[in-house]
Amino acid sequence: MMIEVKKMKYLFRYLKKEPVKVGIVIILTIITSALRVTHALINVNILNSLIKLQLHNFFNWVMIDIGVFAILSIFLILLQIQTAKTIEFLCLDLRKDIVCQIANKPIMKYQEKDTGVYASWLTNDMNTIENNGFYNILQSIQVITDPLFSIIALLQFSWTFIPLILLVSFLTVFLPQIVHDRLASASLSTTQANENLLSTINDGLRGFATYSIFGVERQLENRITSATMTLIGKKVRQAKYQAVANNIAGFSNILGQTGIEAWTGFLALQKSISIGVIGSSGNLSYNVFNSLAAIAPMWAEMTALTPIFEKYHLDDKSKPKQISRTLENNDFQCLDVENLQISFGSKTVFKQPLNLHISKNQKIALDGDSGSGKSTLLKIISGQIKNYQGSVKINNQDEKTLSYDAIRETLIYVDQIPYLFNGTIRYNLELGEHFSDQEIFDALRKADLLDYVKELPARLNTKVGENGTKMSGGQKQRLALARGLLRNRKLFLLDESTSSLDKKSALNVENIFLSQPDITVIFVSHQLHDENKQKFDRIVKI
Ligand SMILES: Nc1ncnc2c1ncn2[C@@H]1O[C@H](COP(=O)(O)OP(=O)(O)OP(=O)(O)O)[C@@H](O)[C@H]1O
Ligand SMILES: [Mg+2]
Repeated sequence: MMIEVKKMKYLFRYLKKEPVKVGIVIILTIITSALRVTHALINVNILNSLIKLQLHNFFNWVMIDIGVFAILSIFLILLQIQTAKTIEFLCLDLRKDIVCQIANKPIMKYQEKDTGVYASWLTNDMNTIENNGFYNILQSIQVITDPLFSIIALLQFSWTFIPLILLVSFLTVFLPQIVHDRLASASLSTTQANENLLSTINDGLRGFATYSIFGVERQLENRITSATMTLIGKKVRQAKYQAVANNIAGFSNILGQTGIEAWTGFLALQKSISIGVIGSSGNLSYNVFNSLAAIAPMWAEMTALTPIFEKYHLDDKSKPKQISRTLENNDFQCLDVENLQISFGSKTVFKQPLNLHISKNQKIALDGDSGSGKSTLLKIISGQIKNYQGSVKINNQDEKTLSYDAIRETLIYVDQIPYLFNGTIRYNLELGEHFSDQEIFDALRKADLLDYVKELPARLNTKVGENGTKMSGGQKQRLALARGLLRNRKLFLLDESTSSLDKKSALNVENIFLSQPDITVIFVSHQLHDENKQKFDRIVKI
């Protein structure tokens, strides 16, 4: 049982984060349980008055009972509202933690999983945890208070109820544990199938245009159906074990209720209790066994969440080993690449280990065949890829001893295929930071995008669509360049940043970088324009 309680540590951890809200739920639950037992006890008096033909008393007790029920209803409404609110806040706390955990991942680690997997963590898994975890754990307060008060009330009538209650409690609570492990593994499989389904849906929807161009739109249906079929299989398996657990508990519940009623009848016939107790013992035993019957399935559902929580590594506080060392001088001075090599799997990327020295304000063109490792080199320099051999030094300080923040403050990397968020042009430039309009227009002008933006009716507030579908390939590239220029760094790593532009625009944009005397540029391209070639200090071939 101790091990089982440990499995609840994640749920308890979140309850502790909302002590006031959870406290109010507990108090309201205790009040409603007490009122339910009061109602059952009033029934004794109603029935006894009736048997004794005391009409006045009978009428009074009925009125009191109605009053108790009215108050109970009011408290039930308050309890339900408070429970719903508390659950939403618990979910918010968990979602924040999961997002933090994802956000702390280095890019390469993040990319090990599909985005659909993370999306599923934050949607499907959250629903499961909301219903099977937070809802159940708050509900389980009533599952404790209802039987507790009811057992105390039953004991007022006769202690002989104890053995029966103990026996049936044992059957109801512990018997369903037989399927517990299978239920836990089934529920983990369901969440994995959900992740797979969401990844498939995302992937298929993103590639819709490709399917359509090739006339294979049916692929969307086929892939989603196949992923759904897998999910159905997992869900049915989970439902099977859930049903077994529920029904073992359900059967013991009925056994218990009937047993108590029969025993009450027997005691009444023996004249050791008043006949009126029959009116109440049914109610009280319903309170006891119905709650106990709920314990096992709820317990099973709650503890089955452990492997799901473990997927998120919430205990893993080790942020990607944040080395606190910053650069002694944020101004870029020089870059040294020594004997650099990297392998993905068994395949080394560079034909031979790379050596490169770049001084302040130099403009370097990086040329090489497709797949020769140009993007990889820029990703290593910009600190995104770590597991390389050799060394990369900025201002003579080894990057491996520098924090990611320190590297990011020195340079800016503009992606070969830039990503645009489904927001406004301003959002895509600022990314939640703040820049003045003047700074933004300056960056747009340098990236040769100002005229385009000025002609838009909503200008900076124009929405770009999902990954910039409302902009041309060249406009997207220039927006990404403006995003980099806005940050005012002194070292620019530009990965084919003008490849989608017509020659005139490409030359324009390249010249902007090449003509600024106080910045250093590494410009990856496999189609250098003759007009610009001589403006580079060096052309490096890898
Ligand atoms: N995350 C990764 N996992 C496995 N292999 C990778 C990964 N990133 C790159 N590679 C491999 O490393 C090699 C170099 O890729 P890279 O993107 O650096 O090439 P590139 O020179 O920029 O090519 P292009 O001119 O086509 O952009 C390729 O063979 C690629 O398949
Ligand atoms: Mg590349």
